[in-house]
Amino acid sequence: MGSISAEVASASIELLEVRHAFSTDVLALSDFTLSIAPREFVSIIGPSDCGKTTVLNLVAGLLPVQTGTIIVAGAAPTAGHHDVAYMLARDCLYPWLTAQQNAEMGNRVRRMKPAECSHRARALLHAVGLKGFEDSYPKQLSHGMRQRAALARTFAMLSPVLLMDEPFGALDAQTKLVLGELLDRLWEHEQRTVLFITHDLAEAIALSDRVIVMSRRPGRIIANVKIPLPRPRSVRAMQKDPQFHEIYAQLWTLLEQALTEEFVEDSI
Ligand SMILES: Nc1ncnc2c1ncn2[C@@H]1O[C@H](COP(=O)(O)OP(=O)(O)OP(=O)(O)O)[C@@H](O)[C@H]1O
Ligand SMILES: [Mg+2]
Repeated sequence: MGSISAEVASASIELLEVRHAFSTDVLALSDFTLSIAPREFVSIIGPSDCGKTTVLNLVAGLLPVQTGTIIVAGAAPTAGHHDVAYMLARDCLYPWLTAQQNAEMGNRVRRMKPAECSHRARALLHAVGLKGFEDSYPKQLSHGMRQRAALARTFAMLSPVLLMDEPFGALDAQTKLVLGELLDRLWEHEQRTVLFITHDLAEAIALSDRVIVMSRRPGRIIANVKIPLPRPRSVRAMQKDPQFHEIYAQLWTLLEQALTEEFVEDSI
C-alpha cells in the first residue's frame, strides 16, 4: 500500500495576515495569521459566523486569496489539489456509488492503480468498522455509518493535508465519541497535517495538538492553546484527568471572551 510519510514531512500550512471580505458589509477574516507544522493536528473553535469555514475554503483553494499570503504544502492553494483532502459535516458520499466505490473515488480521480485503490479503500472501511458493508449504498447506511465511510474515503486518499469542517457535528454524542476515537487512531497510525473545525470543546481537546480560538467576525485568532495531554487519547478516559477539565474550562472562558470581543493574550 502507498505511503505518504515523505509528503507529510513537508506539508505545513501557513496563513500570513489574511483578510477576506465577501462584500463591503461582510468582512469575514481580518489579520489572520496561523502556522501549522507538518503532522500537527490543529483545531479551530469560535463563535458561529466568525469565519472558520472561510479559513478552510481559502486553504483548500476554493476561495481566492484577497489579501495576505497562504502556503499549503509549499505552494499556493489550488482547488482540487491532490495534497489536500476536505471532509464536511454534511453527507458527502455519492448516492449512486457503494461504500467501497465511494472510498475509492478520491484515489481513482487521482489515477492511483485500481488494485491499490481497491485495497486501500477496503482496508480503511474495515478500520472504521464497515466490514461487510462495502457493497451497501449510502441510503442503506445510517448517518453515523455514512460519516464512517466518508472518514474512510478521506484517509484512503494519499493527501498529506486534511481539512475537516465539523465532520461529526450532526451526529449524536455517543457516535461522535466513537468517530472521534476512530479519527484519533487513524491519525496515530498515519499522521497527516490536519486543520479541524469543531464546536465541541471535548472533541477539540481529545484530537488536537493545539486549539485555536477565534474572535467574533471579522475573525482573528485570540488564543492559541497547546494540548499537552499524552496520546493516544480517549474522551472517556480523559474525563478522569483533572488536566482535561482545566483545559476545558480555559477554552470555555476563552470562547466567552471571544463572544464579548475582548482581546486575549496568546497563551503559548
Ligand atoms: N461564499 C460566500 N459568499 C458570501 N458570504 C459568505 C460566503 N461564505 C461565507 N460568507 C459569510 O462569511 C461569514 C463567515 O462565514 P463562515 O462560513 O466562514 O463562518 P463559520 O465560522 O464557519 O460559521 P459556522 O460556525 O456557523 O459554520 C458569514 O457572515 C457568511 O455569511
Ligand atoms: Mg462553518
